[in-house]
Amino acid sequence: MHIPSNKVRDIERYMLYELAAQYPEGEIRTFIRILFDAYLGWDTTQLLMHREESINQSDLLKFHWATEALKQRRPIQHIVGWADFCGLRIKVTPDTLIPRPETEEIVEWIIKNKTNRQHIIDLCTGSGCIAIALKQRIREADIWAMDISEKALRVAQENAQTHNTGIHFLQGDLLKPGTWRPLHESQQTPCTFDLIVSNPPYIREAERAAMDANVKDYEPALALFVPDSDPLRFYRAIAEFAQQHLSDEGTIVAEINEALGSETIQLFEKYGFATTIHEDFRGNPRMLEAEKS
Ligand SMILES: C[S@@+](CC[C@H](N)C(=O)[O-])C[C@H]1O[C@@H](n2cnc3c(N)ncnc32)[C@H](O)[C@@H]1O
Repeated sequence: MHIPSNKVRDIERYMLYELAAQYPEGEIRTFIRILFDAYLGWDTTQLLMHREESINQSDLLKFHWATEALKQRRPIQHIVGWADFCGLRIKVTPDTLIPRPETEEIVEWIIKNKTNRQHIIDLCTGSGCIAIALKQRIREADIWAMDISEKALRVAQENAQTHNTGIHFLQGDLLKPGTWRPLHESQQTPCTFDLIVSNPPYIREAERAAMDANVKDYEPALALFVPDSDPLRFYRAIAEFAQQHLSDEGTIVAEINEALGSETIQLFEKYGFATTIHEDFRGNPRMLEAEKS
């Protein structure tokens, strides 16, 4: 079907028709809302008010190309270039994971339960979403954020600037602590942190086949996958880092693979941490909380 006219309601009709075979109607309506927000700056009310109006030809073309990209299962966040996270617009690119609602819940949990933390480090920061959302809400905290990917860190720095949050960035390999370096030489990294937060890669290669094309074909493999032979490698590195750098009253908060809850608890207990798992909004074991026992 061609877009019948430049009218807003015809664009809606066109997208609902073109994408019906691939997405449920509710999801297509969400895409429509996001695209009108991105291309015309309209919120949901404005979208309703302008349904009988026409848009210009160049904007119309953007809706056409976005619909084609959605047919290829390209994530909507890559099409518009951002994702909403804890009320913030976070830039995302193919080099950064798209922040997930489960991770928002972890940030909300920290804000509700651990706002007295002064020195915080976000390991595997990606787009910087966790560090930036925490800094927005705990203004007095000093926050560090590390990642192996220089491209992701560039996006994270841009996000930190956009949201006027002073985050100290480190580049390095979590599995090789000796490799870490501050992005700005003058920064002194503290010896201990009272909150270590992380959403590291945790999906086993064996789980790849069951994943949606819009994740496995478009999101960075580096951000997602771990070898089947050692799926907890990042949690071991976090526990080892925490043994050295977590303050006595400090807390580790990490997102985990729901299928590996008990193995992850065992690992942290082996390193001497008292560990609790919290469920996410879907009822899946998703968030690990650990403290020195
Ligand atoms: C699951 S993503 C999380 C991104 C972001 N924190 C979030 O919650 O949306 C994992 C991140 O770990 C980073 N990463 C992968 N291997 C790493 C390593 N060896 N050391 C440090 N970071 C690594 C990836 O670049 C990616 O940004």
